[in-house]
Amino acid sequence: MIGRLNHVGVATPSIDESLKAYETLFGARASGAPFDLPVQGVRVCFIDLPNSQIELIEPLGEASPLHGFLARNPKGGQHHICFEVDDIIAARDAMRAKGATILGTGEPRIGAHGTPIIFLHPRDTGGVLVELMQAPQEGHP
Ligand code: CO
Repeated sequence: MIGRLNHVGVATPSIDESLKAYETLFGARASGAPFDLPVQGVRVCFIDLPNSQIELIEPLGEASPLHGFLARNPKGGQHHICFEVDDIIAARDAMRAKGATILGTGEPRIGAHGTPIIFLHPRDTGGVLVELMQAPQEGHP
């Protein structure tokens, strides 16, 4: 069983521009400075919400998987949703047993919150790219 919604991933051609929009329109604030996540080919900035977070992601490097998304959605757009799970390996194995496809090698990678993550193929989840993230141990979102 999945846990809480950890974040909604939003792809953008410019984290700076998107941050301005969230700050100006909604009075929302970044949880910290943007940072690079080279393993995933993205630059990341989280925005804190009372009950969750928005993860702004911008392409990092030529091989970034976001280039294709932004070619189809030049102004950016909603990219994925991320649910917490207690144990990423148990969750992955359960998804596989139920016939879902894990993207990439199927081995968890370290995500933007420093805990292991996997992505499920959108064909198994109604067209929504789903990230599963092992929940941090000590209450940090
Ligand atoms: Co994410």
